[in-house]
Amino acid sequence: MKLITTIKDMQTEISKQKGLGKSIGFVPTMGFLHEGHLTLLSHARKENDIVVISIFVNPLQFGPSEDFSTYPRDFDRDSALAEAEGADYLFYPSVEEMYPHEPSVKVVVQERTDVLCGKSRPGHFDGVATVITKLFHIMMPTRAYFGKKDAQQVAVIDGLITDFHFPIQLAAVDIVREPDGLAKSSRNVNLLPEERQQATVLFKSLQMAKKAVDKGERSPARLSNLVSEVISNDSNGQIDYVEVLSYPQLKPLEKLAGTIIIALAVKFSKVRLIDNFIIHID
Ligand code: PAF
Repeated sequence: MKLITTIKDMQTEISKQKGLGKSIGFVPTMGFLHEGHLTLLSHARKENDIVVISIFVNPLQFGPSEDFSTYPRDFDRDSALAEAEGADYLFYPSVEEMYPHEPSVKVVVQERTDVLCGKSRPGHFDGVATVITKLFHIMMPTRAYFGKKDAQQVAVIDGLITDFHFPIQLAAVDIVREPDGLAKSSRNVNLLPEERQQATVLFKSLQMAKKAVDKGERSPARLSNLVSEVISNDSNGQIDYVEVLSYPQLKPLEKLAGTIIIALAVKFSKVRLIDNFIIHID
C-alpha cells in the first residue's frame, strides 16, 4: 500500500492507473477505522482493480459544539488495517493541503437535510458534500463506497452525484449487524450492560415495521407509532426521532409506496444509536 499526502501526487497516481484502464474503488473515511469501514474496503477490493482509501477528518462538517480537535485518531492502526484489507493507496492529506485558504466556493445541500440527523446538525451535510466533491475530483473513482447505516449521507451523496453529473457509481453497502441484530458501531461499547441488551429492540422494532408493511400497512404515521411503541415498551432509551420517508428523496409520505426508509435515533445514557431499514414496496 502506498501512502500519499499531497493532492498532486494522488492525481498523478490516479491518472497513471486510469491510463492503464484500471477501475478505481474509493472509500472515503475520517479514520479510526471499524468493521463498517473494513466491509466497505472489502467490497471495493472485490469490485475494482485499484482501491483507494482516504483518511481526512474534515473540519467543515463539524458544528461549533462538535469537537473537531478531539475526534479520535489512530493513524498507525488505521494504516495497518487498510493495508491488511488490500487497499492500494492511502490518501492522508493535512487540513492545509485540503483547505490551503478559506474556501471561496462551498457546496450547499438544498434537499434531504432538514430531516433525521440533519435537523440537529445544520451545515453538516454542506461540509460533507464539499469535501466529497473535492475528493471525487481528486480520485475520479469508478465506484465510491458508503455505508447504509448513515442512510442520510448516502441520500445526500446520491443527490450530489446526480446534480453535479459525476460519472461515479454510488456503492451503498448494507449495514453490518451483531448476531442479535444490533447495528455494529464503535459507539456500542459505551452502552451499559443492561442497555446493550435493550438496544436489540431497535432492530426488533424495524423488523416488526417491515412485517406490518408486508401484511399491507400503508400508513407512515401508524408505522412510526408502531416502532416508537416497541422501543418505549422494551427499553429505557429516549427516542430522538422515528421517521418514515421516501428514499433517497427523504420526503414525507401520505401513503407508503415505492422505496421508503424507516429511520430511528435513540439516546441511551452515554450514547445515541441510529438504525434504519430501506424497504421497496410494489
Ligand atoms: O462518513 C464519514 O466518515 C464522513 O462523513 C465522510 C464521508 C468521510 C466525509 O468526510
